[in-house]
Amino acid sequence: MGRKTNKAKDKLVKRKEEKAILDQNVALVQSANSQVDPLSSFAAFKKFTKHGLNLDLECKPVGLLDESVLDFIFNLEKENMKTYYEDCSWGWNDKKKRSEMSEESARYLIARNPEGIPVAFSHFRFDLDYGDPVLYCYELQLVESVRRKGLGKFMMQILELIAFSANLHKVILTVLKHNPGATEFYKALKYELDDTSPQEGMFEEECHYEILSKLNKKVYN
Ligand SMILES: CC(C)(COP(=O)(O)OP(=O)(O)OC[C@H]1O[C@@H](n2cnc3c(N)ncnc32)[C@H](O)[C@@H]1OP(=O)(O)O)[C@@H](O)C(=O)NCCC(=O)NCCS
Repeated sequence: MGRKTNKAKDKLVKRKEEKAILDQNVALVQSANSQVDPLSSFAAFKKFTKHGLNLDLECKPVGLLDESVLDFIFNLEKENMKTYYEDCSWGWNDKKKRSEMSEESARYLIARNPEGIPVAFSHFRFDLDYGDPVLYCYELQLVESVRRKGLGKFMMQILELIAFSANLHKVILTVLKHNPGATEFYKALKYELDDTSPQEGMFEEECHYEILSKLNKKVYN
């Protein structure tokens, strides 16, 4: 058998480089996932006191949440989002949503008032997305009385802090185009269309959602 041609060698080198990058990315996600409480190193972000709110924030994997908190999370998600889901091809299904929200990899950032009652949550996960190590924000939901007081922005800042201090490449999320409040909110926070967001013409019908992200400046410069 003769020696490999230059072209074949180049291909092999490229494959090895790609494999090394993927291994590195998998290791970053595993390392992020090995933390029980990624908020523990950021004491300053465990309190939100602004515009008359005095809230405590905590971060837990779904397996450590009480049944009553799980009920709060599901009920707020349903109250805020059911109509939006029904107004597009996703539709709403209690069982499916509850099961998605309770998957083992789900983590929650929760804000509570001084009585210990939850008023907001974010469901997020550390994951690989098209090979990139990311913090995927599945949900951000606030009860109506605490909105437009900077809490949503503060919670997204916490997710960014957690993601970027773990060297993940981006914070990424899906937003429904017919939810203008959320779209404006993420625009105000400088989230931009991610390059994995569906392009126009990709689907027969107009796509009802966009994928937005904020990139880690240490990785994308
Ligand atoms: C969307 C949501 C998370 C925003 O959180 P919030 O705490 O109310 O937002 P903030 O006070 O941090 O807003 C930061 C900035 O975002 C923009 N913004 C927030 N909500 C907005 C809205 N409804 N319309 C237009 N702009 C909005 C504003 O520029 C705002 O700054 P300002 O108040 O100084 O003008 C919250 O309103 C919510 O839970 N909505 C219902 C559920 C939902 O749609 N979740 C998103 C699913 S993807």
